[in-house]
Amino acid sequence: MAGRPRRLIVLASGLLLALAGCSSTDPTPKPDVVVDLLQQDWQHTSGVTADGDVLRVAATARSIVQQNGGGGQPNPPLNLAGTHLAVSGDFTLSATFADVTADASWALYDRPPVIADEFRVEPAGLRLTLQGDGLEIAVFDGTQKSDVTQPVPVHDERVTVSDPGAPLTVRRSGDTLMIASGADRLASLPLGKVFSSGNLWLGLSSDSGAFNVTSLKAAAPESAGLRTSGAAVADVHPSAEGLQALAAKTRPDFRIGAAVALGPLTADADYAREMVSNFGSVTPENAMKPQALSPQRGVYTFEEADAIIAIAKSKGMIVHGHTIAFSEAMPHWMRELPSGTAAERQSSATALLDYIRTVVTHFKGKLDSWDVVNEPFDVDQGTSLQQNVWYRVFGPGYPTVVSQAVYKADPAVKQFINENGADVPGRRQAALLKLALDTNARGGHIYGVGLQAHVYDFSTDAIPAGKLSKTLAKFEAAGLRVRISENDVKDDPGTGAQAEQYATVLATCLRSSACVSYTTWGVDDRYDWWVDDHGNLQQGHDFIFNDGQPTPAYDAMRRALGG
Ligand code: XIL
Repeated sequence: MAGRPRRLIVLASGLLLALAGCSSTDPTPKPDVVVDLLQQDWQHTSGVTADGDVLRVAATARSIVQQNGGGGQPNPPLNLAGTHLAVSGDFTLSATFADVTADASWALYDRPPVIADEFRVEPAGLRLTLQGDGLEIAVFDGTQKSDVTQPVPVHDERVTVSDPGAPLTVRRSGDTLMIASGADRLASLPLGKVFSSGNLWLGLSSDSGAFNVTSLKAAAPESAGLRTSGAAVADVHPSAEGLQALAAKTRPDFRIGAAVALGPLTADADYAREMVSNFGSVTPENAMKPQALSPQRGVYTFEEADAIIAIAKSKGMIVHGHTIAFSEAMPHWMRELPSGTAAERQSSATALLDYIRTVVTHFKGKLDSWDVVNEPFDVDQGTSLQQNVWYRVFGPGYPTVVSQAVYKADPAVKQFINENGADVPGRRQAALLKLALDTNARGGHIYGVGLQAHVYDFSTDAIPAGKLSKTLAKFEAAGLRVRISENDVKDDPGTGAQAEQYATVLATCLRSSACVSYTTWGVDDRYDWWVDDHGNLQQGHDFIFNDGQPTPAYDAMRRALGG
C-alpha cells in the first residue's frame, strides 16, 4: 500500500517542476501532496460512473429551457455532494481522457453555479473541452457582464493539441494560469479572479457523447494546504434552539421547512448551518422539477435530488417533492409532446405516465409528500386551467389522471395541489378548493393544498391573519390539509413590516390543526433568484437570513414560536 502514493508523489512533483522550468536536481525537493481524484466520491454526479481506476462519463444533455420554451443553456453536472478540493496556494491538476466519442469537458470552478429554472450563473472558473484535436479553453471570472442569464467568458480560445491522449494540465502559479497538453504549453493567462475562493469544484461532462477519464490528479507543495473536502453540510447539526425545535414544543408533528439547492448546501457553511439548525423539512427548490430529472425522454438524472434527500435524511428532516405536473421547468421533449390527434395524445400519454411512474417509484419511501399538480391556474390570478402539455394530452381532468398515477406508484405519499395567489378568500382560492374536491370526486387522492404565500407586492399579496384563518378553516371543513408551501416576503415596506408578515403567516398556520407545515422559499438571500428587467440578480430582500445573518423576520418567527 505504501508504495503507490509515493510513486504518485514523485510523478507529480516532476510535473510541477517541469512546468515551472525548475531543475529537478534541487537537493532538497519538498514532496508534493497528491490527490488521486479517480478514487474520490463521484456517486452523486449525473453522467459519471466510477469503474475501478476509470471514470466513465456519458452525456446527460442537461440544459435549461426557458419558460417560453426557448433556450437550451447547457447545465452540465458538477461533483457537488462528493469530493471537492481545498487549496490555498499554487497547484497542478492533470487529467487524461480516452475513448472520446464526441466531446469531453472538464470544469474547474471556484464555487458551485447558482442554478435556476431559467438560467445558470457561472462562477469563476475554467472549462476545457476536447473535441478531436481541438481544445476549447473558456475562462469565466464570476462577474456579470450584461445579463446574468448570458454568461460571457473573459477568455475563450480554441487551440490544437498534437496528442489528444496526452494529459491535460492546469496549473496555478502565483497570478498566472497555465494550461498544457503533455509537454506543450497551450496558454498562459492572468489568473484574475479565477480560483480565488480556496476551493475547487470539479465537473466532467460531455455534450453529446461519452469518454473515459483514465487519470485525474491534483498536486501541490505542502505549503499550499491541498486537501479533499466534503460537503459543508456534513459538519452541522440540528439545534435544540432552532425554529423546528421551537415549533415541536407545541406541535410535535409540525414541520418548518425551506426550499433548498444542493450547491449552497454543499459549498456554503453559513447556508448549511442556517438550514440544518432551523428546519425539519426540505423542498428541493428546482432539483425535482421535470427539467432537472429527465433532460431527455427516457433518460433520468436523479443524482442531485438523491443527494439532497440523503442530506435531509442524515439530519432527520423530511422531504417534500416539488413537482410533477407543472407548466414550467419542463424539458423540451415533454413540453413539445404532440397532442393534435387521438393517436398523438395516446403516445404522449404513455410518455407522461412513464415519467410519473419512473419518478414516483424512484423516490418511493423517501418523501413525505409531493406537489402532484403545481400552479394549475392561468397566471395573473386566473381561475381556468393553464393549457399545458398535461391539459392538452389528458384534458381538463388531468389532475385526477396524475393523482391516480402517483397513487399507483406510491400509495403512501401525501399528494398536494400547490398554487399561488390563493392564500386569502377570493375567486382563485375558490377555484383551488373546487379543483381539489373535483379531483378526488373523480377518483384522485389529493390530501391537501399548498398555499404558496409569496408576498412580492404588499398592495396585492399581503396575507392578514384573519383572512388566512378563514382560509384554513374552509379547507379544513372540506376535509383537506394545508401546507404553507413557499412563503417569502419582500422588504419593500421595510424589514419591520416584512418580519411581521412572516410571523403572521407562521403563527396563523400553527394555530390551525389543518395546517400541517410551513415552508419558506429559500434560506439565505445570497441565493435569491429574482432577475430584474435588466438581467441583474436582485438579492438581499426576501428571506429570513441574509449573508449569513438572521434578518428581523427570523427573530419575529422565533417569537411567533414562543422562543
Ligand atoms: C422558482 C425557483 O425558486 C427559482 O430558482 C426558479 O428559477 C423558478 O422557480 N412557485 C413555484 C416554484 O412553484 O417552483 C418557483 O420556484 C417559485 C414560484
